[in-house]
Amino acid sequence: MTPQLTIPTSLEWHEDHLVILDQQKLPGAVEYVHLYTIKDYYDAIITLKVRGAPAIGITAAYGLAQAAGEYETESLEEFKTWFEKEKQYLLSSRPTAVNLSWALERLERELDQAGTVNEAKTDLLHTAIQIHAEDEDMCRRIGENGLELLHDAQRVMTICNAGSIATSKYGTALAPFHIGREKDRNFQVFACETRPVLQGARLTAWELQQSGVDVTLITDNMAAHTMKTKGIEAVIVGADRVAANGDTANKIGTSSLAILCKHFGIPFYVAAPSSTFDLTIDSGDDIEIEERSSTEVTTLGQSVIAPEGVPVFNPAFDVTPHDLISAIITENGILYPDFKQSIADTLN
Ligand code: MRU
Repeated sequence: MTPQLTIPTSLEWHEDHLVILDQQKLPGAVEYVHLYTIKDYYDAIITLKVRGAPAIGITAAYGLAQAAGEYETESLEEFKTWFEKEKQYLLSSRPTAVNLSWALERLERELDQAGTVNEAKTDLLHTAIQIHAEDEDMCRRIGENGLELLHDAQRVMTICNAGSIATSKYGTALAPFHIGREKDRNFQVFACETRPVLQGARLTAWELQQSGVDVTLITDNMAAHTMKTKGIEAVIVGADRVAANGDTANKIGTSSLAILCKHFGIPFYVAAPSSTFDLTIDSGDDIEIEERSSTEVTTLGQSVIAPEGVPVFNPAFDVTPHDLISAIITENGILYPDFKQSIADTLN
């Protein structure tokens, strides 16, 4: 019997709490976690049970809105003080993806409009639900716009997981492949495994298999050889923060692919919704790069792969300079260099 092909999703609001797909357990087990307290939300984000810039933003929005609904006070002033403290708590979970602060600041603007605590509670939850729904629409449009850059059977490389499970649905970098399948357009995707946390191997390979997209897994150090010998025609990646000049932070290893693309003359595309742009910073130099635990590098699964005590450097992201990016695919169209100009024209 042929297995049912579906585009997997990772977030579901259940009336009074959020249920997430536990991305740390994939691909070995498909398990769901119910989030009830703000600490549950914080822990889920910091331990990468939920990850990917848009999914982090949506989750944090639900977390703050849910906790707000349960906070008991009649005083709007006290409610706002509590809100600010919990907002800072969630913001401290992961620093690089701007979607987190984008979502929580949107809630804060909603709170500023409210006249009473009860009104604020209702509006905050509605806004979180709206952020979730809008993200799906943005991802679908990114997928449709991305398809304009790709021809059928094209061999495309990607890194990390900028897919359906990193967003509300469809993803950003992987959206053209999912939408393409719905339209009977097929591609040959090469997924870099993405050490140290293996989002490419564990998540992208799994997600694309689930939805019936042709995917081949490679290790990160096979990228150059694969570009040359398999005739890679495009690289498409997601983003955690895009600065006003187009410099883009994304999963560690992304900038190496961009440099290889320049060498081989392959177009390098970034796919990102407007919620991932940070127009308050001029360039990627101002993006804080998260550094994570050394054990992510010194272990592989349950095995220790490095001598005890060896110093480790584990940045989770890198910044690809704008001059290595051929185009940025957004829900509002495809942006080309000069990015400073095209970003300002499209996002302001
Ligand atoms: O550390 P992660 O797994 O959260 O990193 C995710 C990425 O780098 C993605 O490419 C990015 O967030 C875009 S997800 C649509």
